[in-house]
Amino acid sequence: MARINEHFAKLPAGYLFPEIGRRVRAYQAAHPSERVIRLGIGDVTEPLAPAIVDAMHAAVDEMGKAETFRGYGPEQGYDFLLEAIREHDYRARGVDIAADEIFVSDGSKCDSGNIQEIFALAARVAVTDPVYPVYVDSNVMAGRTGALGPDGRYGGLVYLVGNEANGFQPEPPPAGTAIDIVYLCSPNNPTGTVATRAQLERWVAWARANDAIILFDAAYESYISDPSLPRSIYEIEGARECALELRSFSKRAGFTGVRCAFLVIPKGVTGADPDGKRVSINALWSRRHTTKFNGASYVVQRGAAAAYSPAGLAQTQAQIAFYMENARLLREGLATVGFTMFGGVHAPYLWLRTKDGATSWAFFDRLLHEAQIVGTPGAGFGPAGEGYFRLSAFNSRANIEEAIARIRRVFG
Ligand code: MLT
Repeated sequence: MARINEHFAKLPAGYLFPEIGRRVRAYQAAHPSERVIRLGIGDVTEPLAPAIVDAMHAAVDEMGKAETFRGYGPEQGYDFLLEAIREHDYRARGVDIAADEIFVSDGSKCDSGNIQEIFALAARVAVTDPVYPVYVDSNVMAGRTGALGPDGRYGGLVYLVGNEANGFQPEPPPAGTAIDIVYLCSPNNPTGTVATRAQLERWVAWARANDAIILFDAAYESYISDPSLPRSIYEIEGARECALELRSFSKRAGFTGVRCAFLVIPKGVTGADPDGKRVSINALWSRRHTTKFNGASYVVQRGAAAAYSPAGLAQTQAQIAFYMENARLLREGLATVGFTMFGGVHAPYLWLRTKDGATSWAFFDRLLHEAQIVGTPGAGFGPAGEGYFRLSAFNSRANIEEAIARIRRVFG
């Protein structure tokens, strides 16, 4: 008899976005003539930048010739991509990251789910609430939590509440709170808010004082337009000893369907073995990565590297500016009908307080049925998301303008 991992039984039946998809399909089946505008899952809509397409075409041609064909590549990523990352994402911001501290992968969702595998089941994990659900669910699957309680929280996890009072950027917990690993995301998914340098300094100081590790998800860093805001946790003194950083090409270069990301693990970050001996997290992850992963595809890595070329940078930055103009239009359009909103300035997500105290799923249904617009209910991101709603700015300009007009009709 093959016994299953019983921890999966603790999870609600469906992951958030497939559940939304199911409701939307049911609505469409019942109302086939309605045109639904999707501002739910944060999925890019602009085509790949020409510089990226050209680089991928050239790479495919190389793969089609005997003299330039390549089989398995280096598991950590090709040097041409590692060097581009080091130069543009780090050296340009005064941060020195070594090539062997970068692990190229096929996505930050996978990385954020997989990284917890190298920590003990007894490790005490903290998440912000609301939160990107993968951080929570992957720890549930591993058996690092108790059951889901009536309050929507899993036993054994520490929830750091983000709310209007703290601008949805929770502060480090009081000294003595037992936490070994904390997941932070800035610019934040789902609230679209961003951590300031001072806030990140407090987190790094806290992690060092408490011998904890920060898993810093910077998948949306390229949406930051204020140069004084940190785009990497390593811009903060001391972070190289306590933080891992997740980066993705999904939202910065339109790679949600292409798949490429990377995880940075400085060699100064250590954990403890059962005898208390310090162990390099970089070495453990290298062992794990090279065992379970054969590297992102050569063609994809050539495409990712092209995102750093002068043309690639200009083209992808224009796409980001386009999405952020969508976010501005949404923010200003919704303000005219009295919505209270957060985020959407340094991130492609707007976080709205629902109208009339509606629950976030009731608001989801109302928006779908009365305006034919799909968003994401805040409760799907954790109990502190109840009463809030996320709208994504990834869409065509025509759809964003139409969505604003519909929302104004329903709520005006
Ligand atoms: C989201 O909508 O939260 C994101 O698209 C999910 C993801 O990046 O996996």
